[in-house]
Amino acid sequence: VRSIADLRAASARLLADVPDRQASFGLVPTMGALHAGHAELAATSVAAETATVVSIFVNPLQFGDAKDLERYPRTLESDVELLESVGVDLVFAPSAEEMYPDGAPMVRVSAGSLGEVFEGASRPGHFDGALTVVSKLLHAAQPTVRAGYRAYFGQKDAQQLALVQRMVSDLNFPVEIVPVPTVRAADGLALSSRNRFLSAPEREASLVLSRALRELVGRAQRREPLDLESAVDLVRSVPGVDLDYFEVIDPKSFEPLAENCRDSPFQGSALAVLAAKVGAVRLIDNMPLVAG
Ligand code: PAJ
Repeated sequence: VRSIADLRAASARLLADVPDRQASFGLVPTMGALHAGHAELAATSVAAETATVVSIFVNPLQFGDAKDLERYPRTLESDVELLESVGVDLVFAPSAEEMYPDGAPMVRVSAGSLGEVFEGASRPGHFDGALTVVSKLLHAAQPTVRAGYRAYFGQKDAQQLALVQRMVSDLNFPVEIVPVPTVRAADGLALSSRNRFLSAPEREASLVLSRALRELVGRAQRREPLDLESAVDLVRSVPGVDLDYFEVIDPKSFEPLAENCRDSPFQGSALAVLAAKVGAVRLIDNMPLVAG
């Protein structure tokens, strides 16, 4: 469906004959160019919910650069096929005019200070734009269900996930956010719609990102000092990989863990996050660190 009115009507039809207490609804927001990571989100919702809607909308509000927006891959036909194969009930693929009938919205969601660090530092306004469209999508879907309204987000975009969780809690959205673990290619690279822009040597070089994260996961698991420096050096040693940030942080606040937590035996849990440019492609990845 293309319009919000049709989305609501079709969702209501999907749930019409289902008893109230069973009627649950899952929304999976995406920008299309779908891969197995998106499919995992959709399949997780399909398994849990009575009805699952996937939205496909390349949101202009979250792109800083007009060229990046233009270059973003659009593969609607194969996206719909993939979603059909995992049992998704409905695809909502609105136009920019449907989402923003008056042009860019005057009133927006502000991500606050968590929107200004890491990804937000490299992409000013990105998270305000992402939260604004997520909030519009959550309200556009607006199912009338008793048994739960849930929306599914990937841990791949850890900062986005943290911000969506904060938005839903800070602003009392009547929806539960379900995190889904990152899906990776067999060689370890986190799946991303942007991976298709990597040349073969760039793709090879990019493998150092998940390797460096895995080293930290191992050290955390063995309760060793994390030695972030040597993981950073490993990434820096690969030609063509331009590291933007690599930090060990508190998963909720995104505050970097104090220096002494990284040099003493690892305890508790944390999140290792990084971003790097490989050729012209900006890649992000993260892994949870948990003491064994
Ligand atoms: P997009 O990049 O298309 O991602 C849609 C969802 O898929 C996000 O929740 C993202 O975290 C998840 N995802 C992407 N790659 C994944 C992987 N390898 N494993 C698991 N999940 C993965 O994120 C956006 O779109 C937009 O910002 C959006 C939320 C739709 C708002 O416009």
